Amino acid sequence: MKRIAVLTSGGDSSGMNAALRAVVRSALSSGLEVVGINKGYKGIIDRNYAMMNTRSVSNILQRGGTFLQSARCKEMMEEPGQNLAAENLKGMGVEGLVVIGGDGSLRGALSLHRRGIKVIGIPASIDNDIPYTSMSLGVDTALNNIVYAIDCLKDTASSHDRAFIVEIMGRNCGYLTLVAAIACGAEHALIPETPFDISRICENLRKRYREGRDNSIILVAEGVATAQEISNRIKDCIGFESRIMVLGHYQRGGSPSSFDRLLGSRFGQGAVQALVEGESGKMIGLSASKMKLTDLEKVLTGKIRPIDKSMVELSKSLDI
Ligand code: F6P
Repeated sequence: MKRIAVLTSGGDSSGMNAALRAVVRSALSSGLEVVGINKGYKGIIDRNYAMMNTRSVSNILQRGGTFLQSARCKEMMEEPGQNLAAENLKGMGVEGLVVIGGDGSLRGALSLHRRGIKVIGIPASIDNDIPYTSMSLGVDTALNNIVYAIDCLKDTASSHDRAFIVEIMGRNCGYLTLVAAIACGAEHALIPETPFDISRICENLRKRYREGRDNSIILVAEGVATAQEISNRIKDCIGFESRIMVLGHYQRGGSPSSFDRLLGSRFGQGAVQALVEGESGKMIGLSASKMKLTDLEKVLTGKIRPIDKSMVELSKSLDI
């Protein structure tokens, strides 16, 4: 193998730059040439790319987002686009590809593997919905962002005897909402994976209000409902005056945490090593603190990573 390419695809997440840097630098130290593809799979279709050297990835480790930019590429969801992408990569002399992104991006990676390109995927998504890795890249930074925001909200909530209903990203996965609730001491976390009872929630909030508590924080995963919808259902029966907050894309940005810088670096180096060793059609993941490869076929069964039962138990014992 002489030349590999790397791209970031789908929703960005903090730590993608650390992974790009590690891919480029470890490939160069293994004697490989590296092509950086701009704007995800769209960059393969449009032949939008540049050769990378060690300086190309200087001073990006501490930056959120992705310096190669990202996109959700409709063409890659259909066979003609997948065929064109494989042809274009071959035309660029690319024999191996590292794809950094979420489940949709890994699906694109699998389609290229089936067309003869050697591919390794790196799981990167704040949702933490990808199975066969205990953490995806960007989750830890997003969690820190959420906790910071909620600490701020608690200050103002406590000054006014208010409840805040906060909407958290995660698509159909409640991981971020659940762990954020534990980390910031929220009163309730509404997630898609476990049932909840709105009247019990209202009763509990009323009780808190009667007891003289000066704030309440209710987190709602976007896969359950909007903060506005939950607010409409509870605002008149909780005692507290309430406000909503949609954290939105704020959660995805910002300087990556040390954990995500390390994870991105490990994923990037591990992906290149896998390509050098002749692996393909696999995702690198974090398992029991070690790097582990899993077949993309197995990762992409359509089932999201099940919610961590120990976190659900922990939240229950903390009365969330
Ligand atoms: O998958 C990452 C994610 O941030 C989800 O949590 C969210 O539902 C979605 O992407 C938002 O997508 P977009 O950036 O296209 O608005």
